[in-house]
Amino acid sequence: MKVGLIGGTGGMGEGFALRWSSKHDVIVGSRDVQKAKEVAITYMRIAKQSYGDSMRGSITGDENLAVARSSDVLLLSIHYEHIAEMCIQLSKQLRDECVVISPIVPMTKTGAGFIYIPLEQAKKPAAEIVADNLPPRSRIVSAFHTISEARLKNMRESVESDTFVCGDDRNIVATVNSLISEIAGLRHIYLGPLSLAYQAEILTPMLLNSAHRNKIKDPGVRIV
Ligand SMILES: NC(=O)c1ccc[n+]([C@@H]2O[C@H](COP(=O)([O-])OP(=O)(O)OC[C@H]3O[C@@H](n4cnc5c(N)ncnc54)[C@H](OP(=O)(O)O)[C@@H]3O)[C@@H](O)[C@H]2O)c1
Repeated sequence: MKVGLIGGTGGMGEGFALRWSSKHDVIVGSRDVQKAKEVAITYMRIAKQSYGDSMRGSITGDENLAVARSSDVLLLSIHYEHIAEMCIQLSKQLRDECVVISPIVPMTKTGAGFIYIPLEQAKKPAAEIVADNLPPRSRIVSAFHTISEARLKNMRESVESDTFVCGDDRNIVATVNSLISEIAGLRHIYLGPLSLAYQAEILTPMLLNSAHRNKIKDPGVRIV
């Protein structure tokens, strides 16, 4: 499968590229094609060190729109503020059957701590802005909001967390669940339709505030 990472040059992008290149052809996207190619070479070197001869996939880099054109699954590793502008550009490029994943957390820091932007500023959850700008809604899946970047990138350890998954089409959710299961120690928990994605997005500021104030490193969520 070809897995494209829009904004894949960032922290989460590195983690997803390293984890999924074991089996899939990962394409790291950037606004700058040269940056994408250079970053992909670095990620590929780390992945080869981790997987050795058992590595069946690859990591390459390209400009975001080219990545969108050739992806079977496209993960939006960009910030909340950039969703609408980026999705409008991507919308004409995506293949009809492309699955879109939003790990995007609408979060900022105030004097009180990390806050969930839609609640404080009467704006839409990230998943809703993605769905508005990359129709059809059925292909959007929301996941990975509470996964620590440090844990995702650390190839020596398994992630040891759950992640909530929201989406309207259970077949498309199943595709994303299978990608989640390929990340060592990560379990998918289906939360419901995309309209409930805000319940997963809002957990991240809560997690970061509690971690910061109680000196907990790289926090995650486990349902017991
Ligand atoms: N970090 C975490 O632990 C974590 C955990 C869960 C969820 N998330 C979510 O995952 C997403 C990515 O987080 P991250 O920490 O990987 O972010 P990041 O390191 O800041 O990377 C985001 C990428 O966005 C691209 N970008 C910057 N400005 C842009 C613009 N104006 N338009 C389009 N693209 C732009 C950049 O790529 P180029 O400059 O190469 O284009 C950058 O590499 C966020 O929505 C975050 O809420 C993060």
